Amino acid sequence: MSQVKLIVSNWKMNLNISQARILTNKLKKIKIKKNLIKNIICPQFILLPIISNIIKDSDILLGAQDCHYRKFGAYTGDTSIELIKEIGCKYIIIGHSERREYKGETNDIIREKAELVISEKLKPIICIGETLEERKKNKYKKILEEQLNICIPNNLDEIIIAYEPIWSIGTGLVPTVDEIKEIKNFTCDFVSQSKKISKIFFLYGGSVNSENIFEIFKLSDVNGALIGGSSLKFEEINKILTFG
Ligand code: 13P
Repeated sequence: MSQVKLIVSNWKMNLNISQARILTNKLKKIKIKKNLIKNIICPQFILLPIISNIIKDSDILLGAQDCHYRKFGAYTGDTSIELIKEIGCKYIIIGHSERREYKGETNDIIREKAELVISEKLKPIICIGETLEERKKNKYKKILEEQLNICIPNNLDEIIIAYEPIWSIGTGLVPTVDEIKEIKNFTCDFVSQSKKISKIFFLYGGSVNSENIFEIFKLSDVNGALIGGSSLKFEEINKILTFG
């Protein structure tokens, strides 16, 4: 498996235009070891054209936080993959737990989105994760397996999966390295056997910061991180991106 780590900044619904410009211009100046790190930033939709313009001569890659599952049509308020692609995004976060919770996205909808993204030759970052209750009741593997089974199309060359335990997002609670490793092995075994996908990039997300990421990388052998809060703070993301 590739040694390159994907560092995916999920800015969520944060940063105004000037804040986003300032942060992106600072990110552009960071010297990244390209053989070790891919720096992918996922701003709000309205910021995408602005950020796309700023990063055009840099190694920073652009991602969207969602897309609609149809190519176009009467879907007021939604954003089409055509525009996301046209503006220069290479990645799309699909099935984030916040969209599952607040927008009622189901595993079936997430699969439709994943299929559309793949058919348009972009890379979906498919999010999975369990609630605290599901973990406490020891139901987490069943939940994760169901999410993987329904959300991920079959017979792909590769897939990016982000494991984000819901109880860890924005809370400061982080699973142990052994717990992350357990889910990585479980996910890779399931996806390679049931979906016949051999190249799996497994990302961890949930309260990642510059203090815990290096241990997670070193001991759990994940292929990268999906980062919320820490990706908004330049000092934090700078330390993370200059890892190695
Ligand atoms: P935090 O890093 O703020 O916990 O958010 C994680 C996340 O949801 C990234 O998609």
